Amino acid sequence: MILTLCYLIGSVTFILGLKMLAHPTTARRGNLVAAAGMSIAIIGTIFLYEQDGKRLGNYAWIFAGLVVGSIIGTLAAKKVKMTAMPEMVSLFNGMGGACAALISFIEFGHLHQAIVVGSIETAVLLTILLGLIIGSISFAGSVIAWGKLNGSIKDFSFPGQHIINLILLVIVLGLAAFLLNNINASNYYWFYVIAVVALIYGVFFVLPIGGADMPVVISLLNSFTGVAAACGGFLYDNKVMLTGGILVGAAGTLLTLLMCKAMNRSLKNVLIGSFGGNKTNGESGSKSQGNFKEISLNDAATIMGYANKVIIVPGYGLAVAQAQHSCHELEKLLQDRGVEVKYAIHPVAGRMPGHMNVLLAEADVSYEKLLEMEQANEEFKSTDVVLILGANDVVNPAAKKDPSSPIYGMPILEVEYAKHTIINKRSMKPGYAGIENDLFFQPKSSMLFGDAKKALQDLVAEIKSM
Ligand code: TAP
Repeated sequence: MILTLCYLIGSVTFILGLKMLAHPTTARRGNLVAAAGMSIAIIGTIFLYEQDGKRLGNYAWIFAGLVVGSIIGTLAAKKVKMTAMPEMVSLFNGMGGACAALISFIEFGHLHQAIVVGSIETAVLLTILLGLIIGSISFAGSVIAWGKLNGSIKDFSFPGQHIINLILLVIVLGLAAFLLNNINASNYYWFYVIAVVALIYGVFFVLPIGGADMPVVISLLNSFTGVAAACGGFLYDNKVMLTGGILVGAAGTLLTLLMCKAMNRSLKNVLIGSFGGNKTNGESGSKSQGNFKEISLNDAATIMGYANKVIIVPGYGLAVAQAQHSCHELEKLLQDRGVEVKYAIHPVAGRMPGHMNVLLAEADVSYEKLLEMEQANEEFKSTDVVLILGANDVVNPAAKKDPSSPIYGMPILEVEYAKHTIINKRSMKPGYAGIENDLFFQPKSSMLFGDAKKALQDLVAEIKSM
């Protein structure tokens, strides 16, 4: 009874926590609420769970694991840089997949007697096989995604790889179907073959996907892990595990679809296309658009310092330069001079969902100052200066005008409606999509070259001396 109550509290706090994560002002608390619920569920299981009248036991092992895991998790989370967050999420997700697969291994071992006497329940075996397959794919795929994001594994593909992937998947599913129908004492070892092929499939599934598409893939693998954990919940008739797994599965799937929608790309295109994947040198997909204008620091400081309204557009480059604090300093300085300053946030600016919100929150930028894309597009018409900091694709007009562009159809920040646009980046190189940006060549645009942090520090100094 008390254990059921613990699980109920756990399930409710997961749902509440997830809801609170939707808003920056409640997100931190939401995380804590869900973590508290998870702790109650874990402690309840350790001390109250009974099977055949026996409690779990093995307390030394359980608590040693908890302590080691908590120390590693806390240190990793404290040390990780914001730009390396997708990497860490991927690694943690891989651990979740591995756990789900290990549960299947252990529970399959417990079925040995039932297999020998032929009394195995199909539903139980199906759940074990699903946990094994999805967990193994998620584990192997997440480890590859982690390696790709930290640069230790390169994109790798060969002609016909998608066919090979399809064959591997058919083998896994075919063997699982075979075992479900015919398992006996002489063929049960195919279970382990399924595990190996599923691991290989996980590796091959992620290897060819462009490095920068990894956040979408990680979110998809995250949803796989959720489903695999839900299988564990079925297996143990554990409601909190089931709720947690379903929430992770559903949230991961929705996030994957939302990211694809914000980039105007289908999931299929992310998984088997090579959008932007190999374009890093600025040559592919680019054609010269004419001349661009450079602006001096002094001129940039003057038009911003005497403007009525400035909107800052942060992008991936701001995160790379770690210039969020300098950006906030510029914002405060302009505001002290009576300039209205806001930020325009594109849903896929940066490299992970909510990247810019998190980055700016780190520098204590007020949430009230952040405009969502639709609001910002309304406000650009009444804006004197748009300052673009390390953003590129999210302000590229080709998304609206050029049907042959890979980003055609992606909603963008329509900065060209402002009176002036100042673009800060280090060179004329393209961004993630690997395509040139016509905005840089428009009459109202001027380029302020340099690392975002340095440029912002110089701008601050320049405005102070005005
Ligand atoms: P990008 O289009 O990637 O452009 C970033 C720009 O920042 C580059 O052109 C680069 O130009 C500049 N930059 C790099 N380091 C800099 C530094 N230290 N100082 C100043 N500038 C620097 O970025 P975006 O506009 O944020 O667009 C995001 C892209 O990522 C979209 O195409 C989106 O679809 C994709 N994507 C997003 C996500 C999520 S969930 N956010 C996930 C996967 C993919 P230089 O090299 O010339 O400096």
